[in-house]
Amino acid sequence: MDKINENGKKVILIVDDSLVIRKTLKNFLGNRAYDVHTVENGKEFFKYIKTGRPHIIILDKMLPDGDGFDILNYIKMNIELNNIPVILFTTQDDYDNELAGLKLGAEMFLSKSVKMEELELCIRKILIKQDKLIKIKENVNRLSREIDEKDNTIMKESKRSNILNEQLNQMSYDLINVLLKTLEVRDPYTKKHSESVSQLSEVISQEMKLTPERVQNIKIAGYFHDIGKIGIPDNILNSTKMLSRDERITIEKHPIIGAEILETVNSLKHLAEMVKHHHENFDGSGYPDNLTGEKIPLESRIIRVADFFDALSTDRVYRPAYSYEQSLDMMKKRIGTFFDKKVFNIFLKLIEKSVK
Ligand SMILES: [Fe+2]
Ligand SMILES: [Fe+2]
Repeated sequence: MDKINENGKKVILIVDDSLVIRKTLKNFLGNRAYDVHTVENGKEFFKYIKTGRPHIIILDKMLPDGDGFDILNYIKMNIELNNIPVILFTTQDDYDNELAGLKLGAEMFLSKSVKMEELELCIRKILIKQDKLIKIKENVNRLSREIDEKDNTIMKESKRSNILNEQLNQMSYDLINVLLKTLEVRDPYTKKHSESVSQLSEVISQEMKLTPERVQNIKIAGYFHDIGKIGIPDNILNSTKMLSRDERITIEKHPIIGAEILETVNSLKHLAEMVKHHHENFDGSGYPDNLTGEKIPLESRIIRVADFFDALSTDRVYRPAYSYEQSLDMMKKRIGTFFDKKVFNIFLKLIEKSVK
């Protein structure tokens, strides 16, 4: 539509069966820097419009092989043509006809008796308006392309930052695992212990019908629950003797150190509180905060039971393992003081089921 012909002229198509009109318009408009094409009926029009894209069409209302309104309708219903302005040209001076043509999408209705100068002025006005419309459309298209591109860039950026975040989380997670492995070298008991506490805490929480997300958190918190021991000196960590008061105070810092380590990792910081309170007792006699009852996170109460059981039922540097029965007997005495009765009963049910 906005294509200008080889001479840089705007193309006007005249559709009229009158040779006189075609010649007059062609001569007059041709002399005024327009490229004027002419067809004399509907059949020729349809042949022309297969490839031709004029800037404006002057259409005779009455054609020998049909009504100009049919052609007008065809142009306005065709997505490739409907931007071409159409001037209806007629000898009939009839208001109803004019209204019907404008309703169909004609730009204007002109009598064939119009002065050529007036016709040219109308054409010029229509073409100026058309150029403005085309520019507006181009701007809208350009803006919408720019918005699309910006959207794509934002999406790519956010995808990239998600990947970076994931990588960072994975790296931090790996780093904590390295800490745990380092701790295992210093205290070989820790490795088996971390895995056992993690597994046992997981099955207890499953049996308690906690949500899968909560179960997963407890499983990971159970795995990392003693990570804070990385900050405890070897002589205390591996002591075979009864710990002094000061040494006990030092080792009792491991839940706080562990929580501080987990706090540094975005993907693990929500587990910090669970780890911090895994040595709290139900009656408030535990550490580090002497929390009581349900003020202790449920996750920590579960880890407390699993941790205690694993500690009793495995070999330690200062004593051999107790049997399952002995371990359970010792633990039963601490229901309600060390352990949450509700959690303990579920644990007991699971242990008895696994021993049978
Ligand atoms: Fe611990
Ligand atoms: Fe532990």
